[in-house]
Amino acid sequence: MNNQLDKSIALPNREFLEDVLEGLSQDQKRLAPKYFYDAHGSALFDRICNLQEYYPTRTEVSVLQDRSKEIAQLVDGRHLIEFGSGSSTKIRILLDAADGLASYVPVDISRDHLFAAAKTIEMDYPDLDVVPVCADFTRSFELPDVVDEGDKAGFFPGSTIGNFSRPEAKNFLSMAADMLGDGGSLVIGVDLKKDPEILNAAYNDSQGVTAEFNLNLLTRINRELGANFKIDSFEHNALYNADKGRVEMHLVSTLDQNVTVNGQDFQFAHDETIHTENSHKYDIDEFHHMGRDAGFTPQHTWTDPNDLFSVHYLRVAA
Ligand code: AVJ
Repeated sequence: MNNQLDKSIALPNREFLEDVLEGLSQDQKRLAPKYFYDAHGSALFDRICNLQEYYPTRTEVSVLQDRSKEIAQLVDGRHLIEFGSGSSTKIRILLDAADGLASYVPVDISRDHLFAAAKTIEMDYPDLDVVPVCADFTRSFELPDVVDEGDKAGFFPGSTIGNFSRPEAKNFLSMAADMLGDGGSLVIGVDLKKDPEILNAAYNDSQGVTAEFNLNLLTRINRELGANFKIDSFEHNALYNADKGRVEMHLVSTLDQNVTVNGQDFQFAHDETIHTENSHKYDIDEFHHMGRDAGFTPQHTWTDPNDLFSVHYLRVAA
């Protein structure tokens, strides 16, 4: 723990502060995408999911709906653990199609959003045991005691795995395999490689919601960490990097400027960027390979007719 830090900053924010100070001290400045999701960022993300250009959400939902019976049968009777549950909307497709789950354990870093969403699920599915866990699933975390008995299934939709680098994604899958244990399985949504034009449009929507989502990270840092970013002197930029198989999002400084975060100064050159997100895209074969490396056996892969998005069912290998 850095002793220079302002002690008036509450504990959950100290980790945020440390990450921000460290990220802005790199040659290529960076901020972690998990910090997008304050209340406003979560609302903006929900709006992104409804945008015409942003195909992943509706495409994944259509795959889940088309295959809901089949997937529900595979996970029925299990404890269903959702990594990064957000508004808990997609899970309803499985909850509606399943006869009965042992429990539903939504895991999310955004506390208020998590508990509000869990309440709504509880009201709409009164027979379901809902046990929300506020945790950063990018690290290992404790599962609640309820899941100790019975088989577990993980649910990790939305291609959130795309935020991880390829080595991090493999590590996450290994951790998930460990956590889900013998007899466990994972339903995971993975965005596919495709025409860069489709990708670039998805991350540069015409209404500028994605730009607002990206810039909101600076607003959040200003508010929670007492920084003085001038929001209108940064611009959203997103571009598919074919070599690395990922869409990169940046915030570009439109002038030479200085920013202070918790008493620490950071210099931005004109056109210098903060790298805020990677969204990795996979081929089906590549993802199967990674799943195997991480201790899973790929069992089923479903896609939409245009091969935009994939949903995989993996079993923990014996
Ligand atoms: C939630 C990580 C899957 O990468 O597509 C959407 C986040 N960023 N638009 C994605 C996001 C910009 C999204 N994930």
